[in-house]
Amino acid sequence: MTILAIETSCDETSAAIVRDGKILSNTVSSQIKLHAEYGGVVPELAAREHLRNLIPVAKSALRDAGISATQLDAVAATQGPGLGIALLVGFKAAQAVAFALNKPFVGINHHEAHLYSPWITRGGGAPAAGLLFAGFSAFQPNVSLIVSGGHTMLVLVESELKHRVLGSTIDDAAGECFDKTGKMMGLAYPAGPEIDRLAEQGNPRAFNFPRPLLHDAGDDFSFSGLKTSVRYFLRDNPALLDDAQKIRDLCASVQAAIVEVLVKKTIRAANRTGVRCVTASGGVICNRTLRRELELACKKDGFTLRLAEKSLCTDNAAMIGILAEQKLLAKVPLPPLDAEIQPGWELA
Ligand code: KG4
Ligand code: ZN
Repeated sequence: MTILAIETSCDETSAAIVRDGKILSNTVSSQIKLHAEYGGVVPELAAREHLRNLIPVAKSALRDAGISATQLDAVAATQGPGLGIALLVGFKAAQAVAFALNKPFVGINHHEAHLYSPWITRGGGAPAAGLLFAGFSAFQPNVSLIVSGGHTMLVLVESELKHRVLGSTIDDAAGECFDKTGKMMGLAYPAGPEIDRLAEQGNPRAFNFPRPLLHDAGDDFSFSGLKTSVRYFLRDNPALLDDAQKIRDLCASVQAAIVEVLVKKTIRAANRTGVRCVTASGGVICNRTLRRELELACKKDGFTLRLAEKSLCTDNAAMIGILAEQKLLAKVPLPPLDAEIQPGWELA
């Protein structure tokens, strides 16, 4: 089965061709530079860029995969959650292609797609062409951590296509915490990758920041208190930002607080639910310390760990296509061809 998948839920315009669990191509056009000027994603600008980029990105995905539109068996797109006017661009375009080709259309929940991206492994060959879905034959029940700029959640994935959300953030997402505390330090948007880089040469024990909800029995997260405590800390220690080493120490200390909460709560949920596998995806999972700490913690408690590979942590259409194919194979009921976007579609 050959599927064209489209993702435009936030600030990445992406199209991918997936065939029989293989990612034949995965083109991603990021708008990070455009939004950096404004310190965050501006929805109208994002939608305009999606409109401008979608056709070239889709053409490039088809070209890289070496197929023509007439060879497609189905079309998929992100239906939600996300920015309404951004989602609309990719979703409506995908429906139009499905209509024109008279092929099935699959609307996908963006977070559900993240749940399966850690099961996409790297075979040989070129970057996109080497990516292969491990398939549900390799599947194990798992606790999945999704951490991005907009979301932080723990999900129990009980079996193929069956999941239950255990907890999510009650205020800011972890990525937002990286970005906003970084902004206070004068770092460019999105600050997460820069904090990751600076923290490598910083002392994570230099400054002590709160670990919100770490000892709370539930699986919810909260990061706004940590953000506020960094704000007060900088208000009381403004000279610190004149010292490059102190900035590195601050980055390492803030990162340590975020990472400790994410790792400990994930491992606790995994132990409590009785699964033997932990998976993780989303932009923040690019963070090297977080990847290392998850590896150490899983090793210590005997969990198999599957981290989405970095190119699939951030938003991409490949994961949308992989999940769409699994849904088609499982004959899951599909939305009607004129279905609407669902910007507020949270996983249950
Ligand atoms: O999943 P994503 O590309 O977009 C959505 O938010 O949906 O995630 C972007 C987030 C941003 O907050 C960014 O700062 C964060 O992921 N991020 C990182 C790193 N790379 C990206 N945070 C910490 N360390 C990183 N290396
Ligand atoms: Zn995402």
